[in-house]
Amino acid sequence: MRKAPILCVLAITCLAQQPRQRGGRRVRFDPVEAAAGHEIYNRSCTMCHGLDGAPGDRAPALGAQRRYLRATTEDIQDAIKNGIKGTNMPASPLPEADIKKLVAYIHSLRATAVDLDVPGNPAKGEQVFQAKANCAKCHMVNGRGGILGPDLSNIGAERSLAALREALTIPKPIPPRGYQPAKVTTTNNQTIEGIVKNQHNTSFQILGADEKLHLLTADQIKEITFHPKSLMPADFDKVLNPTEFQDLLAYLSRQARSRR
Ligand code: HEC
Ligand code: HEC
Repeated sequence: MRKAPILCVLAITCLAQQPRQRGGRRVRFDPVEAAAGHEIYNRSCTMCHGLDGAPGDRAPALGAQRRYLRATTEDIQDAIKNGIKGTNMPASPLPEADIKKLVAYIHSLRATAVDLDVPGNPAKGEQVFQAKANCAKCHMVNGRGGILGPDLSNIGAERSLAALREALTIPKPIPPRGYQPAKVTTTNNQTIEGIVKNQHNTSFQILGADEKLHLLTADQIKEITFHPKSLMPADFDKVLNPTEFQDLLAYLSRQARSRR
């Protein structure tokens, strides 16, 4: 259960409610401070780290979706203020207030979608998901839906908002592992359209459009054609109107198991 803030006097206070990192620890950051920290960062830290938290020539990414050694406000603050002994990470001479903004910025970089108060109407987004965009044909949420695509019940806690937007609008250059679409013709002239789940020298597992897992040995396969494109449509910014698209993002961003 997500606790509602008792007092929400200013919009800013509401936006800053207790985002939590994947590890389950609560992390607070104020989006306005984070935006100020973004500017300080691009000015002061990109000699080594990359622009916008990307990896740099001489220092690691601060915002890639991975596990970090330093995840708490205290630990990040300490790294910036005092440097990291035995590495090239220097102690920063910036004033305390700027360091606080940098920490907020780093938290914001690492936030997954559920950590942000993504605008839009999640209930309407669910209707888009179930009906108009037909996402449920391929995706399960809370035990309901299809299995050709990944289960999205926890997607808001797994991906950043930018990654969700990207999944819906930018086709992947090649289908990811476990989602390679293929058409198989067997030696007894049966055809199976689906995705390749596992492939070994002598056997294939194909999840058919019928949602059944077909196990085939090499000698049962007459022909196999791999399709170059993922089954995931990536034109939802065109198929949906801007309001529907935003509502869908609001819905997806709230799919997080630990928050229910
Ligand atoms: C001279 C190069 C250099 C500069 C300038 C620099 N860093 Fe670093 N930083 C590093 C290196 C190298 C590491 C990796 C240290 C390690 O191996 O643990 C690092 C690590 C960090 C970490 C720890 C990452 C983690 O999760 O473990 C933080 C936070 C960080 N830097 C923030 C900053 C900020 C904010 C600034 C600007 C005020 C800054 N750095 C400027 C080189 C630099
Ligand atoms: C015809 C089947 C199909 C439909 C319809 C479909 N998807 Fe997908 N989706 C997939 C497959 C397969 C993947 C995994 C391969 C990939 O990422 O390209 C995927 C991947 C995704 C991902 C990335 C998951 C991750 O772990 O990063 C998201 C998010 C997503 N779909 C959301 C949606 C939403 C929202 C809709 C409806 C607006 C939708 N999908 C409609 C099949 C589908």
